[in-house]
Amino acid sequence: MCVQRVEIDGQCFEISVSAEQLENSIDKLACRINKDYAGKEIVFLVVLNGAFMFAADLLRKIEGMHRVCFIKLSTYEGTESTGEYKELIGLNDDLEGKDVIIIEDIVDSGFTMGKLLERMKSMKVRSSEICTLTFKPDSFKGDYNVKYVGMNIGNEFIVGYGLDLDQKGRNLKEIYKKI
Ligand code: IMP
Ligand code: MG
Repeated sequence: MCVQRVEIDGQCFEISVSAEQLENSIDKLACRINKDYAGKEIVFLVVLNGAFMFAADLLRKIEGMHRVCFIKLSTYEGTESTGEYKELIGLNDDLEGKDVIIIEDIVDSGFTMGKLLERMKSMKVRSSEICTLTFKPDSFKGDYNVKYVGMNIGNEFIVGYGLDLDQKGRNLKEIYKKI
């Protein structure tokens, strides 16, 4: 049984993606990555905080021996983007010549990911692809390809399964949308 509605700081959310649906789409993503990168070594770059739960579930399904590193970014306050890219915990790993897969919870306008892809280029990675649990196609303004998408969603603000409203709601095992 899952909770149908939650309230965070006076804002109401209703269930949007069940734990079972999340597991199914993560299975599919892992299958694609295992196939596309068979025999290759990958560096997974997990974008904190939002992607922690998705990354934990996805990476357990990835075959082979790979590296996992983390970067902490911030562009949001409440339900609005600040339009400013900040690295709160930077990258210390040398990614030159590596095949990188960036793991994100959500690509919304694409601003954050665009900045991170520029960083990857400047670090001279061999390749960089994006693996995002959720994608908002109607909001996306990026000029790059988002290769691995768990699911497309509408333009609503979502919380749960790692995603937050002002740091709250990350622990929910389903995804909820604002009503
Ligand atoms: P973008 O730069 O507009 O693509 O936003 C990306 C970042 O903003 C994500 O990594 C999230 O941390 C946050 N974000 C965007 N949309 C949502 C949402 O609907 N719920 C929670 N966080 C969001
Ligand atoms: Mg994020």
